[in-house]
Amino acid sequence: MKIGVPTEIKNNESRVSITPAGVYELTKQKHEVFVQSNAGYASGFTNQDYQNAGASILESIEDVYQVAETIVKVKEPIEEEYSLIQENQLLFTYFHFASSLQLTEAMLKAKATCIAYETVQDEDGSLPLLTPMSEVAGRMATQQGAKFLEKPIKGKGILLGGVPGVSPGKVLVLGAGVVGVQAAKMAAGLGAHVTILDINMKRLRYVNDVMPSHVVTEFSNEYNIRKHIKTADLIIGAVLIAGAKAPKLITRDMLKEMTPGTVMVDVAVDQGGCFETTKPTTHENPIYIIDDVVHYCVTNMPGAVPYTSTLALTNVTFPYVMQLANLGWEKACQENKSLAKGLSMVQGDVICPEVKKAFPELLN
Ligand SMILES: NC(=O)c1ccc[n+]([C@@H]2O[C@H](COP(=O)([O-])OP(=O)(O)OC[C@H]3O[C@@H](n4cnc5c(N)ncnc54)[C@H](O)[C@@H]3O)[C@@H](O)[C@H]2O)c1
Repeated sequence: MKIGVPTEIKNNESRVSITPAGVYELTKQKHEVFVQSNAGYASGFTNQDYQNAGASILESIEDVYQVAETIVKVKEPIEEEYSLIQENQLLFTYFHFASSLQLTEAMLKAKATCIAYETVQDEDGSLPLLTPMSEVAGRMATQQGAKFLEKPIKGKGILLGGVPGVSPGKVLVLGAGVVGVQAAKMAAGLGAHVTILDINMKRLRYVNDVMPSHVVTEFSNEYNIRKHIKTADLIIGAVLIAGAKAPKLITRDMLKEMTPGTVMVDVAVDQGGCFETTKPTTHENPIYIIDDVVHYCVTNMPGAVPYTSTLALTNVTFPYVMQLANLGWEKACQENKSLAKGLSMVQGDVICPEVKKAFPELLN
């Protein structure tokens, strides 16, 4: 199969969809891989690395879309790419269709076949191609929080780990899912005192079992949240109710109960945020301040660490890429039920029930 790897052109997106290691495995199976020049540069892979692994380098994005039967990407195609997509071409990438009518219409018009990373789903309901990005964002949440707690970048002026003779900082994590556990782990590693809240007792039991004793679990309710925000230095929002908007666990009035310079990182910003005062921010302008509380609400946190995120993402996407290349999408989806869940569109027809529900007008 001819596989194309275009350079991501969405603002601030530096990841690449296949690494030289992936190219090496694909070409061993006699597939051809066409990589746009410098597609991997920001993730630490040169054109030479790709060529050494067996890829052909193409100069322009047009060349890649022209030659490939399957396009493997990271982010959804943006407007400039719509006209490049060929009829019957397979696209394997994040799409988030239900949040964009424009993208959905464009893919239908192109008669593309689309498999969306975010809806590939295992039997236990987990989303294997989303998990690594939650792991990255969770770990980054603590790193960013620690940075913005420094005085010159608007925080309280606290070193999270403390020093001998001085107490460590206090971190409050809301949600003990993938993001929350990774955030708590990093904070605990720095030596901070960590409290993690969830409404799911199974998750709290798990955290209690695996974390050191300076990570404390408590049930999540307004009473406990109000108690902890008074002394927390860093608050990390990591809740998710699948398919729904995040609940507003920190309301505007609560900011007055915090000490000035407290930092709040809302990782759940992509689901509307779990702080009432959350507004989406970018890596260029990641923070804003309300009532002396620093808010960090970047919607695409993993984009800032492409070296790590590219490897984390391709570790989980690559086995599916290989299966698609070896079998073609129809047979691959028949054999792999998790992959089949990602099938959103087939040559101009919507397959995914959530997309149908989001845009009933497209089905008439
Ligand atoms: N900003 C970014 O760049 C970025 C990157 C990755 C993930 N995310 C987002 O981070 C959020 C968390 O993702 P995840 O993978 O950890 O989800 P997850 O499903 O693994 O965990 C969410 C946890 O929230 C808990 N929860 C639900 N309601 C709660 C409440 N009222 N109080 C406390 N806990 C509650 C759930 O029980 C669950 O344990 C999602 O919105 C996800 O989209 C954002």
